[in-house]
Amino acid sequence: MVRALARIDPGAIERNCRRLAGLAPLCAVVKADGYGHGAVVAARAAHAGGASWLAVATAREAADLRAAGRDGPLLVMGALSPSELAIALDARADIVAWREDFVAALPADARVHVKLDTGMGRLGTRDPDEASSVVTALGDRAVGLMTHFATADEDDQSFVDEQLAAFETWRARHPGLLTHAANSAAAIRRPDARFDLVRCGIAIYGLDPFQRDPADQGLEPALELVSYLAEVKRCEPGQSAGYGRRFVADRATWLGTVPIGYGDGYRRGLTNNAEVLVDARRFPVVGTVSMDNITVDLGDDPPDRGSEVLLIGDGILAEEMAARLGTINYEVTCGISARVPREYA
Ligand SMILES: Cc1ncc(COP(=O)(O)O)c(C=O)c1O
Repeated sequence: MVRALARIDPGAIERNCRRLAGLAPLCAVVKADGYGHGAVVAARAAHAGGASWLAVATAREAADLRAAGRDGPLLVMGALSPSELAIALDARADIVAWREDFVAALPADARVHVKLDTGMGRLGTRDPDEASSVVTALGDRAVGLMTHFATADEDDQSFVDEQLAAFETWRARHPGLLTHAANSAAAIRRPDARFDLVRCGIAIYGLDPFQRDPADQGLEPALELVSYLAEVKRCEPGQSAGYGRRFVADRATWLGTVPIGYGDGYRRGLTNNAEVLVDARRFPVVGTVSMDNITVDLGDDPPDRGSEVLLIGDGILAEEMAARLGTINYEVTCGISARVPREYA
């Protein structure tokens, strides 16, 4: 038993990829260490599940995948400084461009996807003419056309419609290049945005892009976060637990100490605001989440010291934790820190 552990099932990632690859050719997004699941394992599982492309955000992430033996098409989606560009090209990765001055410095064998900013407002040019000039300047080095949606996960799809229309108009100028736009949400709900490739991240991990139950989309969560009851102790009325005494018992109870905290990515915002599962029973987190420990109210009939505690997994979705924190499931799994060992089924 280790104090905190992320158990990852690569088989679930493989199955999720198979489901998504059934919609369109799949580019599996494994940036940020595979959204906390482990990039190399996620990439291997994605390939096994039929993903034909991989995408990351940084040059170093691309180099790490290559060093681990991942072959095949690989796209670095993020901005690249000159030193990062060299690393990305060394890793035989495709890169993204949208400015002519960037293109001027590229070698003859670079493979480039040109990005039109149709409304995300981050990377890419908003000017279709500038994007077309970049395509022309690239010549044979232009291999793809891309954009990214800002609101594909929202109920109101009107802005996706606008972005899609702008992208369609521009892409018609450059037939024959690999065209891609959809993230997980768009891949699932917008057949008209699938084009030649869908770039799915969150969904390959079995997390719901719409922040509801992943099962609704036929997705299977691949990550479980567990710890254990390191201590079970009596708590009399008036006794407290944790910094700031933010839990004071109003009755006699049993408290469990679970050795996981915000240093592991179990966020402090879960103070008095989460539940855990022990032996399939739900218990509330009580008192302040500290860096290395939390306390749970085990009531009158506590499970045994040493029992496994489930913090994320079957019965406690990452989406539930995200809602409690006012964030999204992406941040929950990306936030599980490097201190937590990953164990692969
Ligand atoms: C450009 C780009 N494409 C695709 C993705 C994958 O998005 P998602 O994880 O929502 O599927 C991301 C992730 O943020 C991204 O930045």
